[in-house]
Amino acid sequence: MAGGATLAAAATARAAGDPAITEVQDWNRYLGDGVDAAPYGQPSEFEAHVVRRDVPWLTADPVSSINFTPLHDLDGIITPNGVCFERHHGGTAIIDPAEHRLMINGLVDKQLVFTMDDLKRFPRENRVYFLECAANSGMEWRGAQLNGCQFTHGMVHCVVYTGVPLKYLLEEAGVKTNGKWVLAEGADAAAMTRSIPMEKALEDCLVAFKMNGEALRPEQGYPIRLCVPGWEGNMWVKWLRRIEVGDEPWAQREETSKYTDLLPDGTARRHTWVMDVKSVITSPSPQAPITHGRGRTVISGLAWSGNGKVTRVDVSLDGGRNWQTARLDGPSLSKALHRFYFDFDWDGSPLLIQSRAMDEAGFIQPTKNELRAVRGTNSIYHNNGIQTWHVKGDGVVENVEVS
Ligand code: MTE
Ligand code: CO
Repeated sequence: MAGGATLAAAATARAAGDPAITEVQDWNRYLGDGVDAAPYGQPSEFEAHVVRRDVPWLTADPVSSINFTPLHDLDGIITPNGVCFERHHGGTAIIDPAEHRLMINGLVDKQLVFTMDDLKRFPRENRVYFLECAANSGMEWRGAQLNGCQFTHGMVHCVVYTGVPLKYLLEEAGVKTNGKWVLAEGADAAAMTRSIPMEKALEDCLVAFKMNGEALRPEQGYPIRLCVPGWEGNMWVKWLRRIEVGDEPWAQREETSKYTDLLPDGTARRHTWVMDVKSVITSPSPQAPITHGRGRTVISGLAWSGNGKVTRVDVSLDGGRNWQTARLDGPSLSKALHRFYFDFDWDGSPLLIQSRAMDEAGFIQPTKNELRAVRGTNSIYHNNGIQTWHVKGDGVVENVEVS
């Protein structure tokens, strides 16, 4: 392969007289820090650019705002805890777990209040899930706007949760026969509340207290949050303090004036819970240009579906005219991020790169025009349209729309 030859030639030339090899470096000459220099380890100082970022003009105040996961700097399927995007409607609640309680009330045989210690006596499970805010890519409805996948697609993260299935807690309380819905309520200043159908609560909802093996981060809902796998992030109530059982949905603010989708005819779709099949190329992308010139090139990206597993991802280099199947690599888990790669030989000509995911329920990620034909242009939430990056001859990448 020509790309391989170019790479090998560069690598051979570099070996002769490279000071990185011929000079003795300081880290080779002097002892390093001892073992306990950082009791809680941090990333290398050379990775200081790998951070969450916000878009200052998007929201009026940081307590009701959003920042974004640096997807272009990450690989694999797990998001490190420190860079999971944050979305708060009333700031981060700082809660002493000894003072935290989870109440179950409403249409139950026994109203119950659990302490954190009580919760840890129920059988626990470990599950890997993505969480995507319904507003992810919302700024891109009417056309290309934000220059970077961190900003266009970074309201998503994927971690291993440890927690107690909500089902066990509901069984302990005993749901009455007319108990068809649950209301999840947060203990933060926003007191976030969402209605969830009982079938979902019993199917796979998790009351999680660990993420990636350690306690939830305060930003992610310490000491407990609700996981509502595959469904919009707003339902994943953080700082969870109460589950009420009822016989119908509650029509809370977050399921009426917010998190509904205004259609062209002026009506609004409600209860649009599932996050549909979606993907994005994370590299190259505007914040991760191609700096190595032509030849051997790795396209990398993420795909996910609230309907289960991603079965296939296709990549186009010419704005959707021709498609080739990408290589899925790493664990393929239901309602989790999937990693894909497309390895190719770049001839240095401009590209319009796209990815298109498919899921096990048979859904195919739509183009933005296909989406707008059904949903109009007033929507914000649930934009799973195909993203295009324009790779220029010098490797610089820009957000564009080809539909
Ligand atoms: N839960 C509470 N209590 N308060 C909130 O503001 N924000 C919701 C949800 N749960 C929120 C909440 C929204 S809109 C999203 S997208 C997710 O939490 C974000 O979770 P994260 O901050 O862990 O990324
Ligand atoms: Co959200």
